[in-house]
Amino acid sequence: MLLVLTITGCQGPFPQSTFEPVTSFGESASQLFWMIFWFAVVVFVLVEGALLFAIIRYRARPDGPEPKQIHGHTALEIAWTLAPAWIVALIAVPAIEAIWEEAAPAAEGALVIQVTGHQWWWEYRYPEYGVITANELHLPVGRPVELQMTSADVIHSWWLPRFGGKRDLMAGRTNRLVFTPDSVGEFTGQCAEFCGVSHANMRMRATVTTQGEFDSWVASQTAEPTPLDSLTDLQRRGHELFMTARQPASNSCLACHAISGRSFGVLGPNLTHVGARSTLAGGLIPNDAENLASWLRDPSAIKPGTDMLKGDGSAVGMPTVGLTEDEITALAAYLQSLR
Ligand code: CUA
Repeated sequence: MLLVLTITGCQGPFPQSTFEPVTSFGESASQLFWMIFWFAVVVFVLVEGALLFAIIRYRARPDGPEPKQIHGHTALEIAWTLAPAWIVALIAVPAIEAIWEEAAPAAEGALVIQVTGHQWWWEYRYPEYGVITANELHLPVGRPVELQMTSADVIHSWWLPRFGGKRDLMAGRTNRLVFTPDSVGEFTGQCAEFCGVSHANMRMRATVTTQGEFDSWVASQTAEPTPLDSLTDLQRRGHELFMTARQPASNSCLACHAISGRSFGVLGPNLTHVGARSTLAGGLIPNDAENLASWLRDPSAIKPGTDMLKGDGSAVGMPTVGLTEDEITALAAYLQSLR
């Protein structure tokens, strides 16, 4: 039963298996794993075989004589000291090689992405392109990537299993993760370091595409948000609500969220192109008008502990925004228009 649960735990619409690596880093980690696994299998079979042999061959017999007692056998002592040392060396050499490879500076022309962990979402900045987004990483296939990772608060750990190992994000320190994606696709992962009440809700996804598709994604991300004069009345109402300064200031959307050219908050995710993202709330729920409205209505029902304020007025331990249902609909429509 336990085995079945363990195995099915790795399945689902987006398998997160380290055994199916899709980057150079994942590949080298996986190769090391299998090498060490087969060493362990050989050691297991030899040791358990010797144990079983000894148990059967030298078991107590009612009328048997006491076996000859020996203590210390120089050749054996040397053998079982040298054999493990040799195995450890065989494992250490490729493992250290892989560590050096992984710690080396990224190749020339690598795509540098600054990753900031927040309670509970991921911020991605592409300084080369001036793109700022959240939770959904976009990468071109075949180009080396260097993630420069830090945290805005507590320790998080970035882990996309099919990309390879984890990397911790710590405030005041920049850790690096270097890899080259070698397969096109969509891959999912999550925070792997307990970071508070919504740690389990801190998801991530990465979309690896061809260079051409990546270039069009960059172009759409660097475009100005949908111009105000092409918005519907409902969307424009949402824009006005977004831009309304409320009391206290922390109740205003614009106090925490940036929309390029319109608002400049930095505490929450940048929303310039939020309508183009496939998920909301740290990758938790699909991005559509209905989910967006539920999120605005009561964010902490979806992601407990979030700093996002509750729409209607009854938040726990948090000031509230005081939005009506109509206003929530308008805001959701506006945010959906930001593509
Ligand atoms: Cu962030 Cu756990």
